Amino acid sequence: MKVLVIGSGAREHAMALAVSGSRNVDTVFVAPGNGGTALMGGKVANVPLKASDLEGLLHFVEKNGIDLTVVGPEHPLELGIVDLFRSAGKKIIGPTQAAARLESSKAFAKEFMQRNGIPTAAYHHFTDISAADAYIEKAASTGTFPLVIKASGLCAGKGVFIAMNAEEAHAATSDLFEERIFGAAADEVIIEEFLHGEEASVFLLTDGTSYRLFLPAQDHKRIGDGDTGKNTGGMGAYAPAPLVTPEVMKKVEERIIGPTLHGMAEEGNHYTGFLYVGLMIDKGEPSVVEYNARLGDPETQVVLPLLKSDFVSALSACFDGSLAGTPFEMHAGKSASTVVISSGGYPDHYENGKEISIDEAVASMPECMVFHAGTSLQDERLVTAGGRVFSVTALGDTLRESIDRAYRAVGKISFEGAYCRKDIGAKAL
Ligand code: AMP
Ligand code: GLY
Repeated sequence: MKVLVIGSGAREHAMALAVSGSRNVDTVFVAPGNGGTALMGGKVANVPLKASDLEGLLHFVEKNGIDLTVVGPEHPLELGIVDLFRSAGKKIIGPTQAAARLESSKAFAKEFMQRNGIPTAAYHHFTDISAADAYIEKAASTGTFPLVIKASGLCAGKGVFIAMNAEEAHAATSDLFEERIFGAAADEVIIEEFLHGEEASVFLLTDGTSYRLFLPAQDHKRIGDGDTGKNTGGMGAYAPAPLVTPEVMKKVEERIIGPTLHGMAEEGNHYTGFLYVGLMIDKGEPSVVEYNARLGDPETQVVLPLLKSDFVSALSACFDGSLAGTPFEMHAGKSASTVVISSGGYPDHYENGKEISIDEAVASMPECMVFHAGTSLQDERLVTAGGRVFSVTALGDTLRESIDRAYRAVGKISFEGAYCRKDIGAKAL
């Protein structure tokens, strides 16, 4: 089989690795990929096509006889890549444009959850600043802070403000509606109740009827140790997250996953592909913070290496609607951790083009995988090319062992300004 993976981050590097390990696969293309996927060699090669170039990707698939395409990031899903490929009779894993609104429109997702009785923060929905500001004044008079203010559309995880008082809330509505810092993504704005508790993410693969669960994971969104500083795309992750006990998982399946897939199908938006359910868990009670129509980054870098079954067989079964009878087993008793190495300055301004050195010893470290995120290969030299540069994963028989192994491997990678959090996984120990 020939498989195309779309995207350019560490998530897609991890996907390319899992796909290339499948017994039925002889060629893997990654579009556009990164320095890490370029260096994989063997059956893996990069293709210089952007994830948003839907027509170019379809043309490539038709010309090269690609059997199966897997989409990493959200943007092509929002643009309707699945609809386009399906109409051309091409096999692709992911939700349609309409179903991907679970991620691409928070207004759609909130209304959907409300209609279907799925637990989530109470919310109001606004299309102009005067109504939003009037609501904030009403909240101020009853002391209902913090308030969470979100752009409805895709903002690469940056469109969320947690306002502690009316002044901060008005500043957020002004940024969104007047300054238009996220452009049309903030034509609609959600103001919602602040949820207390701890966050975790649950990932699944679904053919719309049946679904199979990966292990639950926890991301580390803030740049600084102890969850301080600015939000980032994610600085590290681990799985399984002990916070998601079997009892919590049962509630997530009964109250969230079941009603989500059933509700989407009932409403004519049959959901297929990966689904990411971002949860807030308060005293054992889960509610939905957000849905994403894809796997998470950096969570993929821990949940995918923990999958023992053949990834591509599961993807094919997802497309064929036969997921229920297909093996989907995890490595029993294993944990995984991933530590992101970022460019100095990230998530604010940072410089690209720093030369990277990786000690060859990394290749022989037990159960370690160095996934590249923002790297590129220039004249045989590996250089930084993004905010998040690497996601270094290790497995272990315990979470502790996986964390120690991941940090040992991180110590073998260097470039000017390299930064990582020192406490990935610590809160679960
Ligand atoms: P989102 O893009 O909706 O996932 O929001 C990004 C982050 O903001 C989440 O991972 C949470 O840390 C935080 N957040 C979003 N909504 C809420 C909420 N209602 N209550 C508390 N924190 C929230
Ligand atoms: N790790 C957060 C995300 O993928 O959206």
